[in-house]
Amino acid sequence: MVRIPEETITRIREASDIVDVVSQYVQLKKSGQNHFAHCPFHDDKTPSFSVNEKKQIFHCFSCGRGGNVFSFLQEIEGVSFPEAVIKSAEIAEVEIDEKLVEQTYQSRPSGDSRYGKLLEINEKTQAFYHHVLMNTQVGEAAYDYLIARGMTKETIEEFKLGFSPPQRNALKLYLDNQEELDQSLFPQTGLFSDRDDGQLLDRFSGRILFPIRDDKGNTVAFSGRIFEDPNRETTGDKPFHSAKYVNSPETELFNKRRVLFNYDKARASIRREGEVYLFEGFMDVISSWQAGIKNGIASMGTSLTNEQVQLMDRVTNKVVIAYDGDQAGLDATKRATEYFLDQTHFDIDIASFPEKLDPDDYIKSRGKEAYNEFLIHGRDTFMSFLMKYFRAGLNLKNESERLAYIEKVLKEMTVVSSPVERELYFNQLASEFDVSQDTLKEQFQQYLMETQKNRTKELKQRQEERQAENKAPAVSRQNRVKRTTTEQAEKMLLNRLFYHDEVWYTLQGLSYEFSFPDEHYQILYLLYESYFKDKGEHNVEAFLDFIKDPEHKKKATEIFWMDLGEELVPGEIEDYIDMLSNRSPLVTKLESKREELKAAERSGDKQKQTSLTIEIINLNRQLKAAKEA
Ligand code: CTP
Ligand code: MN
Repeated sequence: MVRIPEETITRIREASDIVDVVSQYVQLKKSGQNHFAHCPFHDDKTPSFSVNEKKQIFHCFSCGRGGNVFSFLQEIEGVSFPEAVIKSAEIAEVEIDEKLVEQTYQSRPSGDSRYGKLLEINEKTQAFYHHVLMNTQVGEAAYDYLIARGMTKETIEEFKLGFSPPQRNALKLYLDNQEELDQSLFPQTGLFSDRDDGQLLDRFSGRILFPIRDDKGNTVAFSGRIFEDPNRETTGDKPFHSAKYVNSPETELFNKRRVLFNYDKARASIRREGEVYLFEGFMDVISSWQAGIKNGIASMGTSLTNEQVQLMDRVTNKVVIAYDGDQAGLDATKRATEYFLDQTHFDIDIASFPEKLDPDDYIKSRGKEAYNEFLIHGRDTFMSFLMKYFRAGLNLKNESERLAYIEKVLKEMTVVSSPVERELYFNQLASEFDVSQDTLKEQFQQYLMETQKNRTKELKQRQEERQAENKAPAVSRQNRVKRTTTEQAEKMLLNRLFYHDEVWYTLQGLSYEFSFPDEHYQILYLLYESYFKDKGEHNVEAFLDFIKDPEHKKKATEIFWMDLGEELVPGEIEDYIDMLSNRSPLVTKLESKREELKAAERSGDKQKQTSLTIEIINLNRQLKAAKEA
């Protein structure tokens, strides 16, 4: 990643005008203080998108997107932060170091850079393989195979699939005749296998080729699928090294952690549809594309990396995991889902395919329409997926397996935040196993209490760690609860905090550690604290760039957007603090201890009763002290 010096970023930010920039993409109409338009990021019936010239921020009241000039460019162009900064400089005609521009846009390599030369070799190679598949006798059997699998000629052309002749020197001979190529770079392309005698042999010979493009559409690698020509004599022995897929090794162009198959083509439609399909295989992506699903991608046969998730994050907040229906696929689904829910702010759905089918099989056996229907109406939530997952291989007629199953489900349900969704599962369990809903709910409450205690602890710890590393805190899913009046007070207090130094000192001066009841606002508060300590100044726009997580950016923009008037009203801040402190973590803790005490009384555990009573008395004392401060 390129690092643009902070001074440069500031210079560009100050020279940029968000109204100018946004106007290049949408028609803004001025009304009062703000400029309005139909939101370019979703299908917007009324103009809910607006730009505040004075604050230099945008916000959509309908989809919630918001941020400063850089965030806008990132979002609309689907580019990284440095790219957005450079783009902004170009629009505002700010002069910057050419080197910086070139490093940032590796996609625009000049023809004579090493990077550009390597790309050129790849492009030629791709053209060669594609030509062999489409127009030669050597490629005919592979072509027929693809057609027999249901691919159309247009699809093969769209994805520029190819075939490599079985002779291991064919590619080399072809490239040798391309005079404009830099032959000294051939060994670095990853297209050839190394041999001790220095001969370059085609790594992919005899395979069907899938070109792998980066996010800019450059072909940076290949993946070759094994192909056994039915017309060729075989000895019956499998070739020595017969992996189903062989990928290019890591090269200067290709880092498999950073590449998602089809991301470049899918990007626009991911944004339009508001979600991305994550498939296991290239064939799944391609068949889905042909069946009309254009927002599909796949990782490179490995589990998803952070870098890949960041790419997705540029264009959407929602992933539909559509892995194969076999056991390996189910395991991978569970892993991926847990990863998304625990480590990211993505929403997820799961399309889990019946009868061990993969998407490609499904399309072939049931047709396009059924496939589209399944992808939309056959989805699982994480919980309903887990229920299926847990049952696989269990004999539910057996009492102990049945109990273990119910226990697992109830435990997992503690992360389901929607009461309606929970109710659904209680219903399902109750009717399927003939247990009363009350029993289930009671058991569930107990798990809920246990997990909540652990989670709060964990969350706090994780946040402190992340804060120490100066990273954006992770957002966990169980805390997305809306609190209207409290929420309003939290937002107002933050707004004041962002624009008025003295509020900062008021909060710091409290005798107890103030915290926001809602995790999101607490995180913003903590981020602001580290920003303020670091920079020692209030600069709302610069703070927006400091926030990396798009969800937090959205929230911050909403808060910046509020117009509370320039002047603080006497007593205003104290009112917010009072209101929020009433719901401080102490109160929550106290409540849960009281619940525990009740339980201890019911079960007759005297020792526990005593220790809990002492804890409660102490908590009460702390709370009183906090209020008097
Ligand atoms: N894969 C790999 N190396 C292998 C096998 C698989 O890298 N030896 C990766 C490939 O990216 C492949 C994906 O895992 O696309 C899924 O594998 P699989 O389901 O076996 O392949 P399909 O794409 O379904 O291929 P096909 O339908 O042609 O068998
Ligand atoms: Mn397959």
